[in-house]
Amino acid sequence: MSRALKFDVIVIGAGGAGLMAARYAAQNPNVSVAVLSKLYPTRSHTGTAQGGVGAALGNISEDRAEWHAFDTIKGGDYLTDQDVAETFAHEVIEAVYELEHMGLPFSRTPEGKIAQRKFGGHTREFGKSAVERACYAADRTGHMILQTLYQQSIKDQVVFFNEFHVLDLILVGGECRGVVAYELATGELHSFHAKATVIASGGNGRMFKVTSNAHALTGDLLSVLYRRGLPIEDPEFYQFHPTGLYRIGVLLTEGARGEGGILLNSEGERFMERYAPTIKDLAPRDLVSRAIYLELRAGRGSGPDQDYVLLDLTQVDPEIIESRLPDVTEFARIYLGVDPVKSPVPVQPTAHYAMGGIPTTIDANVIADGDNSVVPGLYAAGEVACVSLHGANRLGTNSLGDLIVFGRRAGVNAARYAEATGFGELPQDAQEFTLDLLARTRNGSGKERASHVRQEMQSTMMENASVFRTQETLSRQVEELAELKARYAEVGVDDSGRRYNTELMEVLELGFLLDNAEQLVHAALNRQESRGAHSREDYRERDDESWLKHSLVYRDGDGVRIDYKPVTLGKYPPKPRVY
Ligand code: FUM
Repeated sequence: MSRALKFDVIVIGAGGAGLMAARYAAQNPNVSVAVLSKLYPTRSHTGTAQGGVGAALGNISEDRAEWHAFDTIKGGDYLTDQDVAETFAHEVIEAVYELEHMGLPFSRTPEGKIAQRKFGGHTREFGKSAVERACYAADRTGHMILQTLYQQSIKDQVVFFNEFHVLDLILVGGECRGVVAYELATGELHSFHAKATVIASGGNGRMFKVTSNAHALTGDLLSVLYRRGLPIEDPEFYQFHPTGLYRIGVLLTEGARGEGGILLNSEGERFMERYAPTIKDLAPRDLVSRAIYLELRAGRGSGPDQDYVLLDLTQVDPEIIESRLPDVTEFARIYLGVDPVKSPVPVQPTAHYAMGGIPTTIDANVIADGDNSVVPGLYAAGEVACVSLHGANRLGTNSLGDLIVFGRRAGVNAARYAEATGFGELPQDAQEFTLDLLARTRNGSGKERASHVRQEMQSTMMENASVFRTQETLSRQVEELAELKARYAEVGVDDSGRRYNTELMEVLELGFLLDNAEQLVHAALNRQESRGAHSREDYRERDDESWLKHSLVYRDGDGVRIDYKPVTLGKYPPKPRVY
């Protein structure tokens, strides 16, 4: 039997952005708050974030918020909205101290201050040299944030609906009135009636074969909004983190290079000296990932297939490795049988982070079009959102910063809106779209296997739409995805049970991922320039005259429509990026 549940604010997702939003909404005593997560909250992907959260505290050497803002804008290859970067760089300082006061166990300097280390693209004095900006808790910073925020949310009486998979938004006359969610334990469908809904459901890295992303990161809400006619901003900008463990993609934090690790090719050369003479291995990720691919192409990769490079930590004090990088050291030992204290670790770029997402204002309101009209009652924050802090390439540590700063803004603003608004009526047919989706998915002909479609999507996305792209590879991928979508329509679900039907869930998630891949590839094919993580070998230069603008990708019937909107510029006019 299905239930209708009523809360002032509903948050979708229990990672850092979701919990931050829930906590801050719950600070308002007049507002009831529920979080819906398709996982158990502390299994959310924020828990895997390793190296730190960037904030100009200046605990190790002088640092300033304006340097952080500049690095973020330059790192984003000037596609970052500059008002957002400025606000962020200031607010993240306060947000980190708030986390400390909530009890987050940061690593400490000898004097007891929050410890900080170097990270890619973080510099002092507008690019002069690397600066220690990443505030860390060993290499478990995300885990600590997640645990701390979950405990605080429980204290704040946030209500949790765990293993509730949101499959649709209830939109009435362009206004959001809640969500429809599938309860995994029972197979029941529920309508959640809300005044304000915050989407914080994370990324979509599972569309690629090698990824640092957890299995749950299937871009569900990015697809739900797209199917509902709302735009997705800048999906072509997808980040590959340079140091995933070879073949499996599990992250080996950039903090390892911040602590002195270096990248070597098969000739034992520290090749980043050639690509980024000033900050070398600590260049931004787009640059380092491209450098690795170029080394591999030039035949300077290691191993029998010459398809990886080495991350060498053997010159770093073993005590530092054990105390500041304990988890990644263990991952390398367990998954690759390599002890980083004694031998260099095989690494390769791994699909890591979507810079694009649901367009939002600086206050986390979801935007419906190129004129920045907002969807009343709908907010988004964290990786699923695109407030356009990261532009074309995110700096390491700015994801945790993003989710605490904009998660908080989303929670505060959603609660404010809910307090001033009544409940709109819930339509009788609120579940119709989802019932139809479930029926179609359950009753697929079974001529196709979901696993085959998924594997093919992941390997072709890796081949045709990852670090380097061309018109030819992207056009091929457009066709590939159209075929995969047709095959997806024939996928069947063998398990007809209602309780914990994970097969049904996985098939639904595959449909969402195919939409996400479609958004990315179409936007990438249209953008005829190279900028940040979008590297077109047939258009090698950044072209500010034609392309200094954000993409907005809409579903249009069975096709895709792309529109553009301007970037908000500020004090830092676009310049060539030199590191
Ligand atoms: O390398 C890392 O620890 C990842 C950090 C990030 O993506 O911000």
